[in-house]
Amino acid sequence: MNDAYGRRLHYLRVSVTDRCNLRCRYCMPESGVVSFSHEDILSYDEIVRVVRILANLGVDRVRLTGGEPLVRKGVQYLAADIKAIPNIRFLGLTTNGVYLPEMASKLAAAGVDGVNISIDTLDRKRYEEITRRDALPQALDGLSAALKAPFSSVKVNCVLFPRSLPEDWLSVISLAKKYPVDVRLIEWMPMTGESIEDAVTADEAFEIIEKVYGVLQPARQNVGAGPARYWQASDFKGRIGIIQAMSHNFCNECNRLRLTATGDLKLCLFYDIGIALKPMLRGGASDEQLAEAILEAIKHKPRQHAGKPMVLEEGGICSVIEPTSGMHKIGG
Ligand code: 5AD
Ligand code: SF4
Repeated sequence: MNDAYGRRLHYLRVSVTDRCNLRCRYCMPESGVVSFSHEDILSYDEIVRVVRILANLGVDRVRLTGGEPLVRKGVQYLAADIKAIPNIRFLGLTTNGVYLPEMASKLAAAGVDGVNISIDTLDRKRYEEITRRDALPQALDGLSAALKAPFSSVKVNCVLFPRSLPEDWLSVISLAKKYPVDVRLIEWMPMTGESIEDAVTADEAFEIIEKVYGVLQPARQNVGAGPARYWQASDFKGRIGIIQAMSHNFCNECNRLRLTATGDLKLCLFYDIGIALKPMLRGGASDEQLAEAILEAIKHKPRQHAGKPMVLEEGGICSVIEPTSGMHKIGG
């Protein structure tokens, strides 16, 4: 399945819920957000149906996200059904890790290949400040559980959000020294039009990392996957990844589609454009009609973003979908 610019779209991110058990300051307000009701969000059967149709069109990689995917009950059953779809070669899950102590082995048994765990600091007080929950011990237990599960890949994501401190992300990087995990620093993206002036760029972080951990050597890159570039520090078991989400854009290599919890197929992180699949799913559309609509919609995948939420480019079958009001709605 190629879009109008010849990009092969084969990676689907599925948000299974907009709810979360944390309240990261850069993602959600204190009070949380008005969550969608049960009927608003796709059932597991509906998600599996959409993934099966997309797999027939060439999707071979799926990642479950949220909100926090592990707050939705029985997500391991969804994982098993997705992994059973013949074309799906890789199934990942992005989580804050807090529920991994009880979920990791169930997810591994269900066929989840890899988990990415979001941890922004190793200082318990700072973690509480950032996430508004005192849950660092659980997240770290979650990381241990993930390492034992076993998964073929365990990564840690750390966001360089505005006013994050070098101590925060330097401490998280130390996890790659101790464990065979890749730690990826992600440039913060202003999803709701905030100013990025206070945010650290990956280049600035890189310089500080080299001062602390010595010169970094380019490391083995995972071909065809995401936009992270990997580096190796001496004596480290895992790699250090840098995701220059803002200072470079990877739009020309973009291979992604996103399915939101409410069933919108979203074409670009920064555009509220896509196709609402829920009315079709619930209105009796056949698999063929859904596939046709999806193929028509992907022609409207934007060529690139400008690093800020963009005005709608309505066209053809595509229309305005649920506005992007933070990562909890789309899961990165
Ligand atoms: N910019 C970059 N990353 C973000 N995340 C949440 N909000 C943002 C943002 N504005 C991260 C989470 C998690 C992943 C799903 O996205 O920390 O690692
Ligand atoms: Fe939850 Fe992730 Fe948002 Fe934090 S960044 S509040 S863990 S969805």
